[in-house]
Amino acid sequence: MKNLIISLLTNPFFKNIALNKNIKKIVFKYIAAEDLKDTINIVKELISQNFFITVSFLGENFNDKEKIEQYLTEIFNLINVINENELSKNVSVSLKLSSLGLLFDFDYTLNNLSKILELANNVRIHIDMEDSKLIDDTFKIFDILRYEKGYSNLDITLQAYLYRTDRDLNEKILAKQDRNNLIIRLCKGAYKESYDKIFPNKKSIDENYIKLAMKLIDNIDKVYPAFATHDINIIKKIQNYAHLKGLNYDKFEFQMLYGVLPKLQNKIIAEKYKLRLYLPYGINWYDYIVRRIAEKPSNIFYIISSLFNKD
Ligand code: FDA
Repeated sequence: MKNLIISLLTNPFFKNIALNKNIKKIVFKYIAAEDLKDTINIVKELISQNFFITVSFLGENFNDKEKIEQYLTEIFNLINVINENELSKNVSVSLKLSSLGLLFDFDYTLNNLSKILELANNVRIHIDMEDSKLIDDTFKIFDILRYEKGYSNLDITLQAYLYRTDRDLNEKILAKQDRNNLIIRLCKGAYKESYDKIFPNKKSIDENYIKLAMKLIDNIDKVYPAFATHDINIIKKIQNYAHLKGLNYDKFEFQMLYGVLPKLQNKIIAEKYKLRLYLPYGINWYDYIVRRIAEKPSNIFYIISSLFNKD
């Protein structure tokens, strides 16, 4: 179902209709704003409500260097604004390597991310994980910059829907001697993938998520886990396991997407857990919104009906 919706909405014909229609009503439920100034105001407001934030400037799958240079300039602005406003304790930056050139040039991407890390200093930079054809190169770049060059403010994401992730966690993360607060975000995975790569259904993906979450908790001396999910059953299981292991609340965090299940977000905060919101901004919101639509059936009906409405 998820694959089908992503295929449909990324088809140029439907994309064109969707962009010409009034889908902005749904867009601003999930993204902060189209510009940085308004976004930072929202960041400050959310911090005052005890949220931690990871900001993502939207844009992905870039094929030309001009777009990438513009993207880089905005990331530099974002980092400078975080530092100028002394927000680096509460705010990190999330980004995708396909927005830095990974679709066509490995070394160029490596160089772009190095420049970002050099400027970032105290700001943590979190690599989102994209579709599976980019994973090996993403890990290679992470490996070089984190372990060879020593950028200890670089973090990474794992996707529980993939069969390969358990092995990646063992070989690419836990096997390393890195005790410098490495943040591992664990999510279920949001991309259109072929069926030989991913667990077949929600039940098996959820089971794998819980297995990986427990493994992260069991290795709490090596990693700082960030459990990125809105799945209340999984959240409860993680909370129970963390309590069983006697983990302090500052040893891990939950992460959720801005706009998704706000009541649940407030409940997690009220229970004194650390919760980081993934806060996207910018004008390139289409691909991000398609993934959010694919996760929530009622959104799909809204979009499809809006495509055929005249306003
Ligand atoms: P699940 O899809 O089972 O949903 C659990 C509950 O949340 C359900 O009640 C559902 O209706 C509700 N819900 C979920 N999505 C919703 C939506 N869009 N609108 C309204 N309700 C919704 N993926 C990836 O491949 N690479 C990445 O780097 C990241 N990064 C990332 C960061 C953060 C902070 C989060 C929270 C998520 C990601 N993801 C991601 C996305 C992730 O892989 C996954 O697609 C979504 O989080 C949805 O999965 P859940 O774990 O919430 O479970």
